[in-house]
Amino acid sequence: MKINLPVTDKEILMQKGEILLSRTDLKGRITYVNDAFVKISGFTRDELIGANHNIVRHPDMPASAYEDLWHNLKQGRPWTAPVKNRTKSGDFYWVEANVVPIFENGQAKEYLSVRYPPAREQVNNAEKLYKLINENKATLKPTGFKAFLKNIHETDITKKTAFGLSLLLGLVCLLVYRLSLSQEYGLITFALALTLIAVAVISSIIHDVIQKLEKCIFSIYCIAEGKYKNRFDLDRNDQIGDLLRGIYTMQVNFNSHLAETRQTAADAQRLNQALDNTNSGVMVADANFNIMYMNNAIKKLFKSAEQDIRQQIPNFSADKLIGSSIDFFHKNPNHQRQMLDQLTHSISTEFVIGGHTMRVVASPVIDASNERIGFVAEWLDRTAEVTIEQEINQVVSAAVSGDFSQRISEHNKQDFFLSLGKKYQSIT
Ligand code: HEM
Repeated sequence: MKINLPVTDKEILMQKGEILLSRTDLKGRITYVNDAFVKISGFTRDELIGANHNIVRHPDMPASAYEDLWHNLKQGRPWTAPVKNRTKSGDFYWVEANVVPIFENGQAKEYLSVRYPPAREQVNNAEKLYKLINENKATLKPTGFKAFLKNIHETDITKKTAFGLSLLLGLVCLLVYRLSLSQEYGLITFALALTLIAVAVISSIIHDVIQKLEKCIFSIYCIAEGKYKNRFDLDRNDQIGDLLRGIYTMQVNFNSHLAETRQTAADAQRLNQALDNTNSGVMVADANFNIMYMNNAIKKLFKSAEQDIRQQIPNFSADKLIGSSIDFFHKNPNHQRQMLDQLTHSISTEFVIGGHTMRVVASPVIDASNERIGFVAEWLDRTAEVTIEQEINQVVSAAVSGDFSQRISEHNKQDFFLSLGKKYQSIT
């Protein structure tokens, strides 16, 4: 088993209502992680994507827990347990892990892990159990007689029914034999008829229940595959009917969530398109200070300044900005981190990078629950403007000291600066 070291005894607590999401391929390589996962793990999204999921494995977790996980997943079954994970720096965080295979046309195509904050009691119990397992004093699953009883309890309903009916028939045979000794043929006929009726009724009830259960199982797996148009018999008035109505209601609910999610995605897409095509350069970083979005204007700005910026940051590449941490570009990253962590409104800052004077307006991005989920930075390359400002300053300073011979060149000026230059020329 992969052992990730070192570890600390510092626990990072998951926030109430927080959900950590990840998807892996069938070999356990991460293909998707949500922001909350990236944040708590301490790794960058780049470090996580493509890595094996055991990158967050904590050495206190018993190997048998992961064997059990893989055993279940390979059989197409979900798995849930409290899990202690390790962050990049060695701290730990407990989660209630729920791992499910995602099916497509009946075949598992990937695994989805959804993790919730666990209850403290759950964590305490798991901590004790995992410690005993690691010391070989306990096992994850029951063994011996307990395992035997569990197996009997969980035997297929059809087999259990067949066993029960065989037992009943055996008893009836004994009774018939006993009655035949005393030649009670009337009673024998009665007992046989009663038994046949009982067997027929029980078999038909069990058959009906199993058939409907299988239909429910099929429909639930269809829903799990994202097919939300299954038909159900909603008029049946027994527990099976209740189960069918429950699944149907869940399906309708999923359809409504799907429609809302599509609507949100369309809204986000619209905003994305709008931002992509605005003239201001916009860059968004997540709460972990990793750049996750750049619009076309900022891509263009960095591409054209790339060579100049390399004079100051030799490895700078405009094409590799997305996914990288903003720390990489700051002289003292803690300074920016602290500043941004405390940011409640927009701040404007100006600095020179690779000879370019950049004005950056940084603002926090806050979600509906007032949680800081990232930062947006609007960039403006003021280099040309600053050069002109300096030129005009020089000319004006010369005029103040009585030298009216200097001229404001018109060739590199537009709008306000051009008209200012023209006015100055006309009065001198
Ligand atoms: C969303 C992304 C970013 C945010 C929110 C951000 C935020 C900031 C803030 C708030 C400051 C000013 C600190 C102060 O006034 O003391 C600053 C300075 C600076 N930023 Fe960024 N930044 C981002 C991305 C970048 C990138 C991609 C680069 C380089 C290409 C960069 C280069 C610089 C430089 C050179 C300074 C001057 C101070 C220093 O060198 O540390 N920043 N940034």
